[in-house]
Amino acid sequence: MAGKRIFSGVKPTGHLTLGNYLGAMRRWADEDQHRADAVFCVVDLHALTVEHDPARVRRLSRQAATLLLATGLDPQRCTVFVQSHVDEHARLSYLMECTASDGEMRRMIQYKEKAAGAQARGEGVRLSLLTYPALMAADILAYGTDEVPVGEDQAQHLELARDLAVRFNRRYGPTFVVPKAIHPTVAARVMDLQEPVSKMGKSQARTAGIVFLLDEAETVRKKVMRAVTDAHADVVYDRAERPGVANLLDVLAACSGGDPQALAGAYGSYGALKKDTAEAVVELLRPVRERHAELAADPGYVDAVLRAGAARARELARPRVDAAYRAVGLLPAV
Ligand code: AMP
Ligand code: TRP
Repeated sequence: MAGKRIFSGVKPTGHLTLGNYLGAMRRWADEDQHRADAVFCVVDLHALTVEHDPARVRRLSRQAATLLLATGLDPQRCTVFVQSHVDEHARLSYLMECTASDGEMRRMIQYKEKAAGAQARGEGVRLSLLTYPALMAADILAYGTDEVPVGEDQAQHLELARDLAVRFNRRYGPTFVVPKAIHPTVAARVMDLQEPVSKMGKSQARTAGIVFLLDEAETVRKKVMRAVTDAHADVVYDRAERPGVANLLDVLAACSGGDPQALAGAYGSYGALKKDTAEAVVELLRPVRERHAELAADPGYVDAVLRAGAARARELARPRVDAAYRAVGLLPAV
């Protein structure tokens, strides 16, 4: 499909969550692949920025790719591939490191949080955790991307990718499209059900507040019914004062297509809100889980999709990355 280019990705650092789905993946399948030339990537190189187990990353990468297809991404319509299968990402990342400054990398909130976490666990902070946004910018810029559909937590990384594109173009001549982030209107930041002031993240140690896309229906119900709320009794949408209830309303609104403020008025108790939210999530995830089971039984098909996806991605990225190499003054190989 001609026109706009869309690019986005997901890291295989844990099992994918309801946050990933509502914040990003759902629209990739339902909207983005239908309206543009869309490219979706399992960003496995990014999973190596924190301590990792090689076998687990391999398993989670395959699972993430299978889940992308299970959500409805159609390989006839869009490109689905694994980052490490396409050398252009690492190749361009180096030029992004030569464009960015040390200070702007250190200002990244996710770097500060993750570096502090690694230190608290007595692990070293990998240098790649600091340079992560350079690789992410490369992912995006290599494809001439116009729009990047992501959750709200990625806004700062996207701003940096824009800055790098503008700076590179100014220094070396027009090479990159300057991309723009797009976020969902509801549930752009789904919070942990047990700790509604923190993002629902797939690599958290405590999983009681995290709904995983592959959780059984009964598990989903239990997690939602046990969501932390507050000592009030009436249902009011107030993200600052009542984050637990606001999160449930956001999730319910995202599942049912309603508006969280308006939905609040329809409920007289937390129990009823939780019950409806649990059922809405179960129904939303049911087809994804079913399709995942079918696809997981046919790994040959998933492999073939990823092989074709990587071939197309290489074709798309190569000319722009070559142009960037020439623009910065590297002697072309003849
Ligand atoms: P990640 O799991 O960090 O690779 O994120 C993949 C995509 O899901 C990104 O676009 C994130 O912004 C989005 N995402 C991750 N967690 C959440 C969350 N709790 N709420 C909304 N979006 C999220
Ligand atoms: N940093 C993103 C995240 O944690 C994942 C990612 C890497 C990404 N490269 C990307 C997202 C390029 C969009 C576009 O969610």
